[in-house]
Amino acid sequence: MHAIGIDIGGTKIAGAVVTEDGRIVAEDRVATEAGDSEAIIEAVVSMVTKLSIGQTIVAAGVAAPGFIDSAQSTVYYTPNISWRNEPLRDRLTRRLGIDVTIDNDANAAGWAEYRFGAGRTVKDMTMLTIGTGVGGAIVSEGRLFRGGFGAGAELGHMRLIPEGLPCGCGARGCIEQYGSGRALLRLANEIADVGGIGLALADARREHGALDGRIVGELIAAGDPGAVHALEQLGHWLGQACASLSAILDPEVFVFGGGVAVAGDLLLDPVREAYRQHLPARGYHPEPDFVIAELVNDAGVVGAADLARIHARAM
Ligand code: BGC
Ligand code: NA
Ligand code: ZN
Repeated sequence: MHAIGIDIGGTKIAGAVVTEDGRIVAEDRVATEAGDSEAIIEAVVSMVTKLSIGQTIVAAGVAAPGFIDSAQSTVYYTPNISWRNEPLRDRLTRRLGIDVTIDNDANAAGWAEYRFGAGRTVKDMTMLTIGTGVGGAIVSEGRLFRGGFGAGAELGHMRLIPEGLPCGCGARGCIEQYGSGRALLRLANEIADVGGIGLALADARREHGALDGRIVGELIAAGDPGAVHALEQLGHWLGQACASLSAILDPEVFVFGGGVAVAGDLLLDPVREAYRQHLPARGYHPEPDFVIAELVNDAGVVGAADLARIHARAM
């Protein structure tokens, strides 16, 4: 039976009708007004309605970028949207008249990679999604880890730097402030302002003002030393975080997803290097694989649909 998966991102909402084996049979996508929570709910309602036409749907799963409760119903908190204790599931169920499940966006993406993508051959996988924020997903012994209150696996909010940069979660020094797409832009702009390493980066900054994701992505792809250096710093922080995560979770594979992961080995090489330097019991701890997500932009919708189907079956 088909299920619908919806993935609420920082700048867009993606939706798809997904088969039991993770194939997408119909899809849709709209841009969102950043941070407008009411507009997001309206967009989700119309997207599910549109995708349902002519389909038999067992359930809809909605992946949201925040802390979700264990009933998979309420969004406790979203660092980058203004939801606080938002009863998202009830609001959507009331409007849609079908069974809706709410999941964390990175959990959904991680689950999809585990079932159908980069983690399908292992039982223990940790995923980091590197986009606007840093999301986390943990699959341990083949099960998606949610924690006691549902809001576990928020790996982007592990503290990396004592009293470091303030984070959208209200704490300081979180991985998200050093390892996200936003952090990449901050680092790239800082490097451009200092000048030196990346001439093209500094030129672009002079020409366009603040460098955005598109420009930095193009400079990375073109091998600009300044832009690549910013990405290396990101990888360095993420590799350190993975070393600590290995001590806790000991995954066989770390999967990197989200927009920044398109950089591939340019991101993974510095991750591996920092990981090796900082790994507890280094030299004596088997080394996990570091890989890029396989489902890329589809992971969120595919995972959300699959988790909703599992949830509906268990009811
Ligand atoms: C949120 C997570 C989310 C991640 C990626 C973080 O700021 O706390 O819930 O998974 O961003 O969207
Ligand atoms: Na998560
Ligand atoms: Zn944080």
